[in-house]
Amino acid sequence: MALSYNHQLRHFRPAAPFVGEYAPLGDKSLSHRALLFAALAEGESEIRNFPASGVIFAMMRCLRALGVECSLDEATHVLRVKGVGLRGFKDPEGPLDCGNSATTLRLLAGVLAGAGVTCTLTGSAGLCKRPMGRIVEPLRMMGAEITATNGCAPLTIRPAKLTGISYTLPVASAQVKSCLLLAGLYADAPTALLEPGPSRDHTERMLAAMGVQVRTVERPAYGAVMLPFTGTLQPLNLDLPGDISSAAFLLVRAYLLPGSDFRIRRVCINPTRTAILEALQRFGADLTFEHEGLLAGEPVADLHIRHRPIAPSFEPITFAGECIVRMIDELPALLIAAALTPAITSIRDAAELRTKESDRIRLMVDGLRAFGLEVEEAPDGCRLKGRSAPLLPPADPIAIHTAGDHRVAMCFALLATQTEAAVEIDDFDCVRESFPDFFALCGL
Ligand code: S3P
Repeated sequence: MALSYNHQLRHFRPAAPFVGEYAPLGDKSLSHRALLFAALAEGESEIRNFPASGVIFAMMRCLRALGVECSLDEATHVLRVKGVGLRGFKDPEGPLDCGNSATTLRLLAGVLAGAGVTCTLTGSAGLCKRPMGRIVEPLRMMGAEITATNGCAPLTIRPAKLTGISYTLPVASAQVKSCLLLAGLYADAPTALLEPGPSRDHTERMLAAMGVQVRTVERPAYGAVMLPFTGTLQPLNLDLPGDISSAAFLLVRAYLLPGSDFRIRRVCINPTRTAILEALQRFGADLTFEHEGLLAGEPVADLHIRHRPIAPSFEPITFAGECIVRMIDELPALLIAAALTPAITSIRDAAELRTKESDRIRLMVDGLRAFGLEVEEAPDGCRLKGRSAPLLPPADPIAIHTAGDHRVAMCFALLATQTEAAVEIDDFDCVRESFPDFFALCGL
């Protein structure tokens, strides 16, 4: 049983700068896709640098219940999957438990809509509150037999014959786009999707490498187009690029701590994911890319960050529009960097943040205020007045409510390094969901 970090009142202030290097395990979005697509391939796949974290175990558990053999060696991080083909799933014996993972649920729903099985997709209480109408409605337009529970999971799916559609997503979402593309693998006509912003295109890249005719649409419109698929998916043999969403927390740690000099190896720098890097550079971070290359069809680089004092900005710094989509998971970490940047930072067009593992706007605003920061909440973001010096010690210990959201917990552990006050994070164990190495790396 691992040590529990929940409800510990502690001082997070580190003794030393953040110096060294780290190669993160595979990006979570890529890992979900590699595992699922390998299950749909014909033949055996080998996927290296595969992470062993809670959200990925959810996908593995569901695929096993559908009759897929897969094994992860947690020491070497090598995953082996015996693909069953596009129509090789068996009916599961009970509901498929997606835990806390919306990526698992939404991507699987797309596949299961066409795969000819009867099943129910469910998950944690939190997951069952997240909006699923956004996949259910277009899947029905494709002919899927799918029912939701008040627009949420549990979702029940029965065998159906699918057709392709042309559809505009109301919000930019790679989960919705990927769900519909995966359903499109079973459709008898092309699937054409448009969306209001450039959501991550890992599904398009990986399916194309496996033999599907699919391409990303970019500027002025965003989306993806896929032709009907009649072949079989080729198995995968690849090394996963490192997770930029985990890297973001390490970058912010180095950004905050004087004397820091840190390299993060082989990070996925797909342009649909890199807005966090551009944002830190806009604040003035000394962040450079080294050894750029390609890995598993994705651009990668080593990220090198050195702490430097940040000059005050008298102009407010606003993040809005397409960059929000490209850093949707990193916005909480960006707010922590903004808290120690002497400028006013505004986040706009980010209402989607309220539909993630928690209402991340509300929890971030509450937590930043608990640290004594001035922050105004807006329906689609917030406006934060950053400081240049370490935060003053508040009179009382600081209590942080995370709603079990791993990113919120990591954010406030980082901010806690900037105060002498003791901080209590109500659920810190949830970090194991996505970044189990965070504790050791940050000396916690
Ligand atoms: C993901 C897409 C994003 C992101 C999530 C992972 C994916 O969700 O927030 O953590 O792997 O496709 P949306 O596409 O719904 O914004």
